[in-house]
Amino acid sequence: MSDNATIEVGGKSYELPVFTGTENEQAIDISKFRGASDGVITIDPGYKNTGSCLSEITFLDGEKGILRYRGYSIEDLAENADFLEVAYLLIFGELPDTETLDKFYTDIKKESIVDDDIKKILDAFPKSAHPMGVLSSLTSALTAFSPSSVNVDSDEEMYKSIVRILGKFPVLVAWTMRKKQGLPLDYGDNKLGYVENVLKMMFNKPNEEYENNPIVVEALDKLLILHADHEQNCSTSTVRIVGSSHAGLFASLSAGISALWGPLHGGANQAVLEMLNGIQEDGGDTNKYMAKAKDKNDPFRLMGFGHRVYKNFDPRAKIIKKAADEVLGDLGIEDPILDIAEGLEKEALADPYFVDRKLYPNVDFYSGIIYRAMGIPTEMFTVMFALGRLPGWIAQWREMRLNKEPIGRPRQIYTGENLRSFVPLDKR
Ligand code: SDX
Repeated sequence: MSDNATIEVGGKSYELPVFTGTENEQAIDISKFRGASDGVITIDPGYKNTGSCLSEITFLDGEKGILRYRGYSIEDLAENADFLEVAYLLIFGELPDTETLDKFYTDIKKESIVDDDIKKILDAFPKSAHPMGVLSSLTSALTAFSPSSVNVDSDEEMYKSIVRILGKFPVLVAWTMRKKQGLPLDYGDNKLGYVENVLKMMFNKPNEEYENNPIVVEALDKLLILHADHEQNCSTSTVRIVGSSHAGLFASLSAGISALWGPLHGGANQAVLEMLNGIQEDGGDTNKYMAKAKDKNDPFRLMGFGHRVYKNFDPRAKIIKKAADEVLGDLGIEDPILDIAEGLEKEALADPYFVDRKLYPNVDFYSGIIYRAMGIPTEMFTVMFALGRLPGWIAQWREMRLNKEPIGRPRQIYTGENLRSFVPLDKR
């Protein structure tokens, strides 16, 4: 294919360079088009056809259902790696050796204490507050307790900010859940592994000896790996654009958490369980919900289905569906919700409305079933998504800063009133 594209507009022709990535994806570079064309721009609501950056972190092929982190397939990583290894891989680009990984975790553990004054902010929230709003606020508040984390002009300062948030975020996740449950807040146990410690901080009871269930630890580790990055999704693009103004890492992550909260994005895992519970309470009448999902006059969507990029099976959904069967089996849990989900999937994949629109289960369709089996409250599901996505957000923010990318500031086409004169109040 030629390395140039030609655009004709207003009777003039413009040659634009075509960029080809390492997986042979191609993009027309329009970065100089407005200047060359005296102001003509392109427009693409929702950026369905527009690339925002060049990135070495994650590769997706939506048609083939391929997902790779730094060149490693998601299947390989989910099967063979642990979450902290994958976090290091995403952020720094290579799988760490034992010594590097041990030092990484040691540096993270040194940062796993959260200033007690954060509890005063947490206490100001009503128990009814949604955990995602609490988590976003507490994450932004971390800047007040670590102001040096904003200026990341040196590798050392950037590394310090990264291990600081990787140490403190799990504590905020656990505290967010326990606040709703009226349970005391603690810091877990640094003798434990990263995921084991998260679970202990979330579930330990002050009057009982806590013991981790290895099935739950392994399942959560795998779920966090599967959620760790997903190229330029809504929340990651948010982290990159907020970070592009040189707002600090914690503020950028706080914005990403807010974007993830939405039910069209990470909030879908909570919405899926609420939908499945609704179907169960409705006597398991999946047809009614399928009809609602297809009815253009009904705002209802089949939550956990469809994807901006995957027009085939989301590879993560395949792995999570298998894990859901295994975890529920290992824990000896019979959950009718899983049967409803599998029934819904089967019906949708045979229904022309979904087939024609290439709507398949996405990462959010089965994940909530596992979280529920672990005893995680439904409102905490998206917080768990954020915990998994944290290394991906960090990696993408770091890449944007290291590449010295310009501040994100899209253009627009104005469609409002032309110039008109002011009318005094008594004349309107
Ligand atoms: C995540 O981007 C990422 O990578 C995100 C994510 C990540 O890891 O970061 O993968 C995580 O956010 C997964 C998606 C979770 N969201 C949901 O499950 C919510 C339900 N899904 C939809 O809202 C929707 O599919 C989106 C938001 C995921 C994608 O929306 P698009 O790409 O903007 O597609 P669209 O809304 O233009 O839909 C195209 C057609 C429309 O019908 P027509 O107008 O062509 O007739 O498909 C229909 C839509 O009405 N459609 C659905 C549907 N999803 C799309 N109809 C019913 N149920 C659905 N779920």
